[in-house]
Amino acid sequence: MKMIKTLGEFILDNQKEYPDASGELTSLFSSIRLAAKILHRQINKAGLVDITGAAGAENVQGEQQQKLDIYANEHFKNALAQRGVVCGIGSEEEEEYVTFEETKNLDGRYVVLMDPLDGSSNIDVNVSVGTIFSVYQRISPVGTKVTEADFLQPGHKQVAAGYVIYGSSTMLVYSTGNGVNGFTYDSTIGVFALSHPNLMVPEDGAIYSVNEGNYVHFPEGVKKYIKYCQEEDESTQRPYTSRYIGSLVSDFHRNLIKGGIYLYPTSSRYPDGKLRLLYECNPMAFLIEQAGGKAISYPGKRILDIEPTKLHQRCPLFVGSPNMVDKLAQFIEAAD
Ligand code: AHG
Ligand code: MN
Ligand code: MN
Repeated sequence: MKMIKTLGEFILDNQKEYPDASGELTSLFSSIRLAAKILHRQINKAGLVDITGAAGAENVQGEQQQKLDIYANEHFKNALAQRGVVCGIGSEEEEEYVTFEETKNLDGRYVVLMDPLDGSSNIDVNVSVGTIFSVYQRISPVGTKVTEADFLQPGHKQVAAGYVIYGSSTMLVYSTGNGVNGFTYDSTIGVFALSHPNLMVPEDGAIYSVNEGNYVHFPEGVKKYIKYCQEEDESTQRPYTSRYIGSLVSDFHRNLIKGGIYLYPTSSRYPDGKLRLLYECNPMAFLIEQAGGKAISYPGKRILDIEPTKLHQRCPLFVGSPNMVDKLAQFIEAAD
């Protein structure tokens, strides 16, 4: 009989390898795991909300039915706050970072940045969405109120990052800087089971993922690279396949497993790119590097080396198989 390894067992096993570990990161992951299960349940009945919540979209307590990204934000925030392991949270859904007054939280050593529901426009059409998270150790002294500087750290300082994908299966994929592991949720027994140990992205791929509707507004080097992707050349598997779901988590997840490149460049609509550095680009960059891939911005700087200046800062993102990202970087450099 094949034994399953649950996320909880996996975390405990790994904790033994770090004698200094206090168990706080374990608690933090328990919070994320719990909120992910709640969201899994909610997303799976999203299509029923209009039916079950028919009375003016109000629930039994008379509260308005919340949009799913607000719902996700509240559940992740509450789960993280309750165990007292985080001293602050930065979220796409919160203009300012969230602080706490309770002693248990003031003593927390970690801050979490998150995109509680990524790709939320896909919900209405039954397409995969996700949650992205990024974890740092605080800079301010333990026991005090969290500060903005705790959140504005470069991505290479992350101690953990990951995502949950609510797709044909729900999966949690994360790294604590020691490789990337993926766990698939078995809702019949309520556990995440290790299904994708030590994930590595293929060095080369044959998929490119970009919103080509913005093509005319892309920088010259990016346009030329897209044309290169479409050219015929058997030795490099070109033309590549174009695949774009429109939720970063899903596009990233596919390319991580199959090999590929995801591009969100600057455009006239988004002069700094659309994706947010702290809770979209950095966690994905951390994961891809841990899986042997690369992540750069425009014109080619490593994402993890960018010094953030704002909580909701945007930046262009190019991420995926290392040889594909290198090739794109050559096109960008040549065009400059
Ligand atoms: P969010 O739903 O958190 O706002 O993120 C949406 C993001 C990202 O998931 C996706 O890759 C990108 O927006 C898609 O943007 P376009 O529709 O402009 O292609
Ligand atoms: Mn997002
Ligand atoms: Mn979002």
